Amino acid sequence: MSLDKKLIDKLVNITSSASIACHKYIGKNDKIAADKAATDIMRENLNKLDINGKVVIGEGELDDAPMLFIGEKLGTGNGPSVDIAVDPLEGTNFVAKNLPGALSVMAITLKGNLFNAPETYMDKLAVGKDVPKDATDLDFSIEKNIKNIADSKNKDISKITACILDRPRHKEIIDKLKKLKVNLKLISDGDVSGAILVANDKHNIDIFLGIGGGPEGVLAASALDAFNCKFQGRFLFKSDQDISRAKKMGIKDLNKKYDLNEIVRGDSIFCATGITSGDLVSGVKLENGKFVTETIVTHKNSTNNIVKKEVPIT
Ligand code: FBP
Repeated sequence: MSLDKKLIDKLVNITSSASIACHKYIGKNDKIAADKAATDIMRENLNKLDINGKVVIGEGELDDAPMLFIGEKLGTGNGPSVDIAVDPLEGTNFVAKNLPGALSVMAITLKGNLFNAPETYMDKLAVGKDVPKDATDLDFSIEKNIKNIADSKNKDISKITACILDRPRHKEIIDKLKKLKVNLKLISDGDVSGAILVANDKHNIDIFLGIGGGPEGVLAASALDAFNCKFQGRFLFKSDQDISRAKKMGIKDLNKKYDLNEIVRGDSIFCATGITSGDLVSGVKLENGKFVTETIVTHKNSTNNIVKKEVPIT
């Protein structure tokens, strides 16, 4: 069973309106207000859609998140039963500080087909479709992954580029990559976009790796699926509370390594609209009395595209 293609345009409108709602907060150094603006409008618009939706990746659980919490029901109830992953504002610092790369992101699948990820960190690895699926693995050493990518692309290791969040926790990995003479793209935030860069040669990223948010991992996986890329993730639990939440969500093996097809199954639609311009899409622009937005859209059964929208300023 597939998702109706007519949903694509409606979902693009939703991430676009969330990006537009954030626009006035760019550079205001207020990430909470920006996140709330994006979340409120996304919620309002999702509730107008003819779907029977449930949030599986959201802004936290009911107790600590008043909006778009995990388990929240969305939509008019008249329509297909779907699972929804949302990150209304991915890159809160980017908006607050007026830096490139903020996105409004959403993914949907048919009910039961999207992994219900706990709000915890995930160790991630993503490579493009031209690398054989068995050439890289979270359990391989950095050296082995890089050598296998170089061999499969027939490139020298010094021509390989790795994208990773610039965090102290990644010092050891970064040191190893430097020693191998791998080129680095160190990102300050925004690892949904960081992971998706492996999907298109124009970005010149051969591997995305390292630890970031688990929910962001699920969102990236849903886009990478449409490009036939590889994604692997393993959750990392810091506290007993994290562990008990994960168990409540049905995760039995806490050390399990998840492959893409265990995270997203069947048909899926992914949309990410730029708020500030970044590697994937341009940010919200004001042109001739209209907002202009750019959205990267993937629909596993039909299209991978960049869609432009013009929305009159009201
Ligand atoms: P927010 O939009 O919630 O601020 O997340 C930004 C982000 O960089 C994610 O892309 C990434 O997965 C996560 O934060 C990394 O977390 P941390 O900043 O704790 O390393």
